[in-house]
Amino acid sequence: MSNSNPQPALEIIGRNPLQGTVKISGAKNSALAIMAGTLLCADDCRLSNMPSLADINTMGQVLASLGVKIKKIGSNWEFNPRDLKAIKAPYELVSQLRASFFVIGPILTRLGVAQVPLPGGCAIGSRPVELHVRGLQAMGANVTIEHGVVNASVKGSSGRLKGANIFLDYPSVGATETIMMAATLADGETVIENAAKEPEIVDLANFCNSMGAKISGAGTDSIVIKGVERLHSTDYQIIPDRIEAGTFLVAGAITHSEIFVTSVNHDHLIPVIAKLSEIGCKVIQEDENTLRTLPGELKASDIETLPHPGFPTDMQAQFMALLTISEGNSLVTETVFENRLRHVAELKRMGANIKVKGNSAHVVGVSMLSGAPVMATDLRASAALVLAGLAANGKTIVQGLQHLDRGYENLEQKLQGLGAKIQRLSDYQS
Ligand code: UD1
Repeated sequence: MSNSNPQPALEIIGRNPLQGTVKISGAKNSALAIMAGTLLCADDCRLSNMPSLADINTMGQVLASLGVKIKKIGSNWEFNPRDLKAIKAPYELVSQLRASFFVIGPILTRLGVAQVPLPGGCAIGSRPVELHVRGLQAMGANVTIEHGVVNASVKGSSGRLKGANIFLDYPSVGATETIMMAATLADGETVIENAAKEPEIVDLANFCNSMGAKISGAGTDSIVIKGVERLHSTDYQIIPDRIEAGTFLVAGAITHSEIFVTSVNHDHLIPVIAKLSEIGCKVIQEDENTLRTLPGELKASDIETLPHPGFPTDMQAQFMALLTISEGNSLVTETVFENRLRHVAELKRMGANIKVKGNSAHVVGVSMLSGAPVMATDLRASAALVLAGLAANGKTIVQGLQHLDRGYENLEQKLQGLGAKIQRLSDYQS
């Protein structure tokens, strides 16, 4: 843990009850895919409810590097992709953000040629892109990978991809998005079988349809896309972030507090709410957009991450923090990513009793965590450490905030608004 350079860190004084209302921002993962989707249209597109996050800014830089002009006013962004070029997006940007690879589908289908660097490895697993590539090939693209760059071009004189029947070996979110976007401007009908069903897929389909695309079945296993010749300008509002909302619901549960989480979509949170209730924290729907936590005694529960509508991998770390102080034995199994239990070592520094075997963690609930200096290893792990800090006795210092800032808008201000004792230290020296 020694760190010679001062770094930003969060200081949390735990065991302080929360109260009040927190407003959830727009969904990061929807916004990233939809930003790529703006490349499908030659006219301006306007997006509202855009979250203010490092990942969103990086994606904006990727689009700008491809010739897109962007204007931002608060959470409203305007994209003008008239001068889109098929040139290579810079590796320095694509390597920071896997979702930036998703521009390959829109660029290829609109311009007939695209060059995008491979996104590279990532802390939570190798995250390959062969399902994206195979889908594009099935639609007639010629794809080669040279020197770490994926070069894709459309065969034949029409310059258009061709509709195809594509069965995904695994319901990958990114591959479903890449193929769905590419198919909107293809010649003929594309059917994606074993498609991902996440709410962000539905949001991307609704966005594309608002530009004149013909997509049906998004949110089911089978998505049908009838290709059209061109798409038109649109104004579109991004859905609420179900993972940010879920993180705040866990904040209510872990601090035994009644809080209101607003600007949410209840239906997107069903697996999270069901698991919270099993653990002992009921969540009730207060009104159309607001949920309220009703805390109770916390009991152990088993969790297995799965593609939607199963339990989301992006909530696994936060629930692990909750289970560390839930009475009894819990088994947490990560099936979506191969290396997503790195928060365990940090939670153990705070007194958690966890043993990892393969892709499972056996958690024995302890009566209390104790505050400690900890290091965030990835985005959702950093949220888990903040949650653990809220429940722990004494002071917790969370370092590695570059991960947290990728995916949580103003997390400490939102928690402060609920009464948490949390502050950002700009120059923490460990
Ligand atoms: C998206 C989300 C991420 C979430 C994940 C699963 C975005 C920007 N990110 O990531 O927050 O955790 O869905 O819900 O939306 N895989 C392959 N080959 C491929 C593609 C994927 O083997 O071609 C594997 C991955 O390595 C991983 C699993 O499939 O093990 C799931 O990946 P995928 O659903 O594609 O996730 P992402 O789109 O990267």
